[in-house]
Amino acid sequence: MTSTVPVVTDISYQDLLDDPYPAFRRLRETASAVYVEAAKLTLVTRFDDITRIERDPATYSADNPVSLVNRVMGPTFMRKDGAEHAVGRKAIEPSFRPGTIKEYWTPKFTAICERLIDDLKDACEAELFGALAAPMASLCLMEMIGFREMPWQTLAEWSQALIDGAGNYAADAEIERKAMQASADVDTAIEAVLDHHRANPNPSILSSMVHADPPMPTEGIRANVKVIIGGGLNEPRDAILTLVLGLLENPAQRASVIANPELWPAAFEEAVRWISPIGMYPRRAARDVELSGVRLPENLQIGLCVGAANRDGKRFADPDRFDLLRPKQSHLAFGAGPHFCAGTWVSRLTVGKIVAPMLFERLRNLRLRDDAVPVLRGWVFRGPISLPVQWDA
Ligand code: HEM
Repeated sequence: MTSTVPVVTDISYQDLLDDPYPAFRRLRETASAVYVEAAKLTLVTRFDDITRIERDPATYSADNPVSLVNRVMGPTFMRKDGAEHAVGRKAIEPSFRPGTIKEYWTPKFTAICERLIDDLKDACEAELFGALAAPMASLCLMEMIGFREMPWQTLAEWSQALIDGAGNYAADAEIERKAMQASADVDTAIEAVLDHHRANPNPSILSSMVHADPPMPTEGIRANVKVIIGGGLNEPRDAILTLVLGLLENPAQRASVIANPELWPAAFEEAVRWISPIGMYPRRAARDVELSGVRLPENLQIGLCVGAANRDGKRFADPDRFDLLRPKQSHLAFGAGPHFCAGTWVSRLTVGKIVAPMLFERLRNLRLRDDAVPVLRGWVFRGPISLPVQWDA
């Protein structure tokens, strides 16, 4: 038997921001797809349904002509299907190759992390969002894109303004102004380095774009760099903080990973499963279709809640628990299908092999503070927005 999309009116937007997991559980138990009034979107929350959707990009399109992403950032391959998507994806691929990550990005990112940890080491306490995770994510992304050096805060501010603009469904004029200003500033920053990258091929994303065959047009470079700024900074930042939080809240697991460093990759995967930095991303039903008993009409916008799927009890036992020793099982934190995250391997390296091991090694007896608690927020993007810690001299 099939039904129309059920509607839920008693989940508030604040509930989703504060702690989306009770709502996710309820939605998973209700139906394959549920319209949530506060989110103004039909949400898909079960692991199997999202996997099915991502295996069928002809039915569930990433292309959305009315998307605010296109308006704020321009036409990006991440919101295209088929050949248009593949050309753009191929253009950036050289910057993300395993050999490039190992030989080129590893030493650079290690040096950035060493410098940040050296700067805070003597203080014996810090708020890790501002002191480590945000600058680390920003400085690494700056290098990867191939921008001239700038304060880490500048790239972080652009990133936030672009994300806010892409989610500005209420058409708030100030949010729009800031997004458009950030967009213009990014264009200027690209312009300042493009000739350099044309003349000096190198592993950066801008260099990959201008040396691609065919070279990416300037309009595409601008739009895709903006999406990468919007999508490549928050996630590693939040993954760093989530992994540290998971370990600090679970001393036995922390002791295991410190005693057995080969567990770091499992710890990283568990962190992004437990609290997925991208909790939801959009798709569009390209035709009338039935999804596990619910009829979705053509052109319906749906939100794939990978943050919910990664806590689906049908896939993961005791899903709300951080457990790096749980049986190995693939998750959806990096998406699936043709749009599977291009930054997966570089994030595994940065977070799971560089930042977290170095932090626990260099800050002796790292621990949460008794007098200040971690604060987490978000559902589209989720992670700690404050992680106060202390350690021994
Ligand atoms: C822990 C860190 C990260 C997580 C959890 C993550 C998650 C994701 C997810 C869920 C998607 C799919 C979105 C969609 O289909 O609409 C995605 C796509 C993408 N990500 Fe990441 N991301 C991370 C880090 C990064 C980094 C550091 C970069 C770049 C330096 C990056 C670049 C991209 C790109 C280019 C795409 C689009 C791929 C495509 O459309 O073909 N990501 N990411």
